[in-house]
Amino acid sequence: MACKITAKTSITGLVGNPIEHSLSPIFQNRLCEIFNIDSIYLPFNVAQGDLEKIIKAFKALNIKGFNVTIPYKTDILNFLNEVSDEALLMESVNTVRINKGKLYGFNTDGLGFIRALQSQNVKVKDKNSVILGAGGAARAAAIKLAQHGCKRIVILNRTEDKAKNLADMVNRKIADIAVSDELSEESIKKYAADCDIVVNTTPVGMSPNEDNCPVSSEDIFINKPVIFDMVYNPIKTKFLNIAETNLCKIINGMGMLIYQGISSFEIWHEVNVPLSIGEELKSDLEEYFTQMQDFK
Ligand code: ATR
Repeated sequence: MACKITAKTSITGLVGNPIEHSLSPIFQNRLCEIFNIDSIYLPFNVAQGDLEKIIKAFKALNIKGFNVTIPYKTDILNFLNEVSDEALLMESVNTVRINKGKLYGFNTDGLGFIRALQSQNVKVKDKNSVILGAGGAARAAAIKLAQHGCKRIVILNRTEDKAKNLADMVNRKIADIAVSDELSEESIKKYAADCDIVVNTTPVGMSPNEDNCPVSSEDIFINKPVIFDMVYNPIKTKFLNIAETNLCKIINGMGMLIYQGISSFEIWHEVNVPLSIGEELKSDLEEYFTQMQDFK
């Protein structure tokens, strides 16, 4: 029999809107297969105003847990019984576990980011970093870089106030190592001169605007920093292409996507996913994604 769903199959899933383009169901269900876990991961496109109804239904249906994405990552806080310290620091929740009718909130975005760096053997301790952007993804990156002993974090953002608020939070709550400035060609050049890791958390360069790039000068690559672009569509952004030409180590956003999902999977199913499986999933997903793009 081909159908693998049984009367005991547990359910996890993704809550958001829109979610049609999400890659999470692909690799989450693959993880269930790899670990031989009798569980299925489903997409739930939830209309504005329906979150409360969905949560009640999930409890009634004994759903095991779910990921939360845009636009519900902060709204979900209203329905949780407990929130992890990490999620409180992130001010958002991307993973919920339901146990005996109670909802427990977590945030695995930062963990996904740091595991993606570790998977490429990038060390953070005592390094200088620059983060482009100051939204939710930048918050996850800044918190993790600070927690892992980064020496300096420079946060550059189009709206300077937001960069300052994020830097202040890091300095207050984790370590006094963050500074902020307005995002500009000059500021990137200035801070990148002695920097080891540059992280782009803005959507600049994301499809359908592939020709855009956070920088136009190649000077920022002189010190050969690791360039991490959280964008994964396209797999290799213009920013990464230029960095690679300038012999920098490059990391795209696929690893972070996979590892935040793996961290959620570990919470729901109480297993440890080894790095080798994470890396295998990442290359499978990159191949799948490239094929899908070719079909368009
Ligand atoms: P995410 O959760 O993915 O971080 P977000 O919270 O909406 O999304 O944050 C997006 C970040 O990208 C912000 O820092 C935003 O800058 P502003 O705070 O000035 O809005 C930044 N961003 C978005 N579009 C940008 C662009 N075209 N150029 C530069 N920065 C941009």
